[in-house]
Amino acid sequence: METQKYKRYTITAALPYANGPKHIGHLAGAYIPADLYVRYLRLKRRDVVFVCGSDEHGTAIANQAMKEGTTPRAIIDKYHELIKYCFNKLNISFDIYHRTSEPIHHQTAQDFFTVLNDKGDFIEKESEQYYDEEAGAFLADRYIVGTCPVCANENAYGDQCEKCGTSLSPEELIDPRSTLSGNKPILRPTKHWYLPLDKYEGWLREWILQGHAHDWKANVYGQCKSWIDGGLQPRAVTRDLDWGIKVPVAGADGKVLYVWFDAPIGYISATKQWAIDNGKDWKLYWQDKESKLVHFIGKDNIVFHCIVFPAMLKAHGEFVLPENVPANEFMNLEGDKMSTSRGWSIEMHEYLEDFPDRVDELRYYLTAIAPETSDSEFTWKDYQARVNNELVAILGNLVNRVMILMHKFFDGKVETSADKLTLTDEGVKVEVNKLYNELEQSFESYKFRQAQQVVMDMARLGNRYLTEKEPWKTIKTDPEAAREALHNCLVLIGHIATGLQPFLPNTVTKILNMLNWPAQTIHFDEEVVFTNGHQLNAATLLFEKLEEEVIEKQIQKLINKKQAIEVAVQESEAAAPVTPAKENINFEQFAAMDIRIGTILTAEKVAKTKKLLKLTIDTGIDQRTVVSGIAEHFEPDAIIGQQVSILVNLEPREIKGILSQGMILMAENAEGELTFVSPVAAMPSGAVVR
Ligand code: MF3
Ligand code: ZN
Repeated sequence: METQKYKRYTITAALPYANGPKHIGHLAGAYIPADLYVRYLRLKRRDVVFVCGSDEHGTAIANQAMKEGTTPRAIIDKYHELIKYCFNKLNISFDIYHRTSEPIHHQTAQDFFTVLNDKGDFIEKESEQYYDEEAGAFLADRYIVGTCPVCANENAYGDQCEKCGTSLSPEELIDPRSTLSGNKPILRPTKHWYLPLDKYEGWLREWILQGHAHDWKANVYGQCKSWIDGGLQPRAVTRDLDWGIKVPVAGADGKVLYVWFDAPIGYISATKQWAIDNGKDWKLYWQDKESKLVHFIGKDNIVFHCIVFPAMLKAHGEFVLPENVPANEFMNLEGDKMSTSRGWSIEMHEYLEDFPDRVDELRYYLTAIAPETSDSEFTWKDYQARVNNELVAILGNLVNRVMILMHKFFDGKVETSADKLTLTDEGVKVEVNKLYNELEQSFESYKFRQAQQVVMDMARLGNRYLTEKEPWKTIKTDPEAAREALHNCLVLIGHIATGLQPFLPNTVTKILNMLNWPAQTIHFDEEVVFTNGHQLNAATLLFEKLEEEVIEKQIQKLINKKQAIEVAVQESEAAAPVTPAKENINFEQFAAMDIRIGTILTAEKVAKTKKLLKLTIDTGIDQRTVVSGIAEHFEPDAIIGQQVSILVNLEPREIKGILSQGMILMAENAEGELTFVSPVAAMPSGAVVR
């Protein structure tokens, strides 16, 4: 187990993009584990700062602004507040929840860039990138659409085709168009700053592959190894974008820092702001060798926290490096990947709306199924089972029974002949000490699932002890034995409350209220004692059973949400893909077409075809035969006498043995519905269309 090796702790949780609500998978992946660890450290009276905040730059924000038809500023203001509110309600105990849009962060990130730039740590390189001449801007990947080379979807984005899921780069799109002007973008040279990660390979091998082979989680270590073994490339740390932190170099107009360059520096700026607000020295937490830096993240962020950011910190030279990055895998939901955009998710605010008084139940379940070593799965049925069979039946039951019996037999009063009440049962004492050790061991090795089970084992121990001692029976034969049994249970509940505090803070508050104990006595090194004459408060229920209907309702809600989103997507797809514009033609090319108003005289199906009608058209010039592919849309008899537009100088063509002389103009929508292009008022056949 870790001895008191570090003087202080700097704990970070990934800065979520303020581009939308965050779901319980995010919560389980980074924020709850970070909070558990921090609360554990505080129970051990360690000096700790816990920082987080909104990641407010990058294309994620700009894309969402485009989607919602508003500005990036409006997006970050809205979602920053929502996410912050949810974390607060869920008792994630950040010391500060900062924002990367704050001036202090812009300054900190620019200073960091400047230090590296002045030391010559960057490579400056020109490359060709898509540029929209009309809009006068380089195009971020999302601002370029075109035909997917894989599935031929005409509306694939420059970074991904949403139809077939292939990830793309803009150059791979066929017929690229700019979403800003609709024009075809041109390739134009642009200069960027690159961090030469390849130069850090030797150092990374030593630091991670040799230095952290045994203390980093296997999933984290494995990802790092395959990145390093795959060969590291220089990475651009600037972008051509108008939303972000300006590159602090003369002549870099229109360029901003890449979001993954500025965001992790956000941990530092957040610490600075916290230090200002609390009269602390931020540098101690980031630059003193006796500070332990730990990043809590989901697995999609591993490379940035284990390779890129450490390389930046190393290049800068004045910072400590992360001691550990206990990244989690993903949490699935009811048999499918969690996804906000597909509607298959439980957003933090949705849960809080439906279960405002069940925060601890969620914390408990997400910890119980934390994806610590592999992907895990949230199901409402399992959630219900854990709440009913563990929280209600084990923990709630123990506390309730002991409190009720104490009140029933002893008026809720602790009366002891010793000067203070501690554990008197040797077996229980030994067991509790053993469990404490396991608890600390689990926390120190970031095994929070296990840590929570250890606390539940204390509650199991209590239930076993109570069943064995049967104070409800001995009260009649040996009241002092009943008293002692219940006293031991009370002290045990005090220990459980201590161990439980990181996991279920609201529940612990309730227990402490029942015990009539001030909250500040909760620390790992604090003895759990009651003084003679201590009066307990009335028993209240810790947890309520979750009923079947509640769970069924949630499952239905999830299915409905997904369907609603599917319908909305279908509708917007049906509305959106207007066929892209063709290239310009000149007037002569247009004038070469001879389009007239004609009248359908006869119509009959072409034998052995499904689609073709043979029409006779009065063009005013003549009466001629036209074969038209409209048989699935119109009954021959119904269109006799219909006025139409007809291109009369189209080269005659033989179709199914019939010579077709011209083409009827039709309008067609995205669903493939057809209608004639007819004059609004009747016109004589032969009238010119131009
Ligand atoms: N915003 C990123 C995400 O949601 C995480 C940024 S973590 C930080 O994936 F280190 F860059 F801040
Ligand atoms: Zn595709």
